[in-house]
Parts: sequence; structure tokens; C-alpha cells
Amino acid sequence: MSDYRIKTLVFVGLSLSFLGYTAWIYFHKEREDHPANAAAQHGKMIWQEKNCGSCHQLYGLGGHLGPDLTNVYASKPEAYIRAILSAGTPVMPNFHLSENEKADLIEFFKYTNSTGTSSPKSFTLHADGTISK
Ligand code: HEC
Repeated sequence: MSDYRIKTLVFVGLSLSFLGYTAWIYFHKEREDHPANAAAQHGKMIWQEKNCGSCHQLYGLGGHLGPDLTNVYASKPEAYIRAILSAGTPVMPNFHLSENEKADLIEFFKYTNSTGTSSPKSFTLHADGTISK
């Protein structure tokens, strides 16, 4: 085979691989193990609108004035979370949330708790440097 033919074949092969992979990425539907319900999605919107992430982390990312809230649903009673959301604290402002908004934020915390963990200590470190939950 001539040099030109090999180069053309490599070029066409790589181009087809690129197009195929691009199409797969574009049309591939990400399967979520724990899809967020409507209330949790609304809670996430409130989280973003009120910018809770400026002081709190989720999955270890965010501000550091307040604690990481990824697993707050598991570590604190719901009534306690509701009380903090209702009154704020000397450091955290009272956002004057409606009962519905508080319920949706708690639903969102339930979702984050079921999908991740904030403490890196609870990950298993593998020999190849990757981690798993
Ligand atoms: C100005 C920073 C700030 C913002 C903004 C903020 N928080 Fe907080 N939050 C704190 C601090 C600090 C604490 C810890 C209690 C304290 O020291 O006052 C806290 C505590 C909490 C707790 C209790 C956590 C625990 O483990 O005790 C929850 C739940 C919470 N915040 C939710 C929220 C939500 C939801 C929002 C957005 C609507 C929000 N916070 C916005 C600073 C903030």
C-alpha cells in the first residue's frame, strides 16, 4: 500500500471515530441511579437562587463559612434543619422561606445525602489512585 493510501485511511478512520464518538456523546442519555424528584429539583433551584453555596459546600465544593451539607439529612434531625432554615443563626441570615420552600430544601438534602458523601475519609482509595464510595 502506498504511503498516501495509508495516510488517507488513517485520516478517514480517525474522522469516522471522531464523528461516531461525538454522536454517541450527543445522543447518549445519562442514566441517573437516584433521579431527583420535582420537590428536590425545586429545592436545588432555591439553593442556587439564595446562593447557599457561598457559605456551604455540597459534595465538598462551595464556601467554607458554614458546614458541608451533603449529608446533613442523615446527621441532623429534620426538625433541626427546619428550625435553622426558619430562624437562621447569628452567622446565617434568615431567608424568610415559605413552608413549601423549606420542605423542598429538605427534600434536596435528602437527595444529596442519597447521591454522595462529603467526607473524603469515607472513600476507598485504590492502588491505581482512583476512589470509590
Ligand atoms: C452567610 C453564610 C451563610 C449562608 C448564605 C447560608 N448559611 Fe446555612 N449556615 C451558615 C453557618 C455559619 C452555619 C453553622 C451555624 C452557625 O455557626 O451559625 C449554617 C448552618 C446551616 C444548617 C445546619 C447545618 C448543621 O449541620 O448544623 C443548614 C441546614 C443550613 N445552614 C442551610 C442553609 C441553606 C439551605 C442556605 C440557603 C438558603 C444557607 N444555609 C445559607 C452560614 C450560611
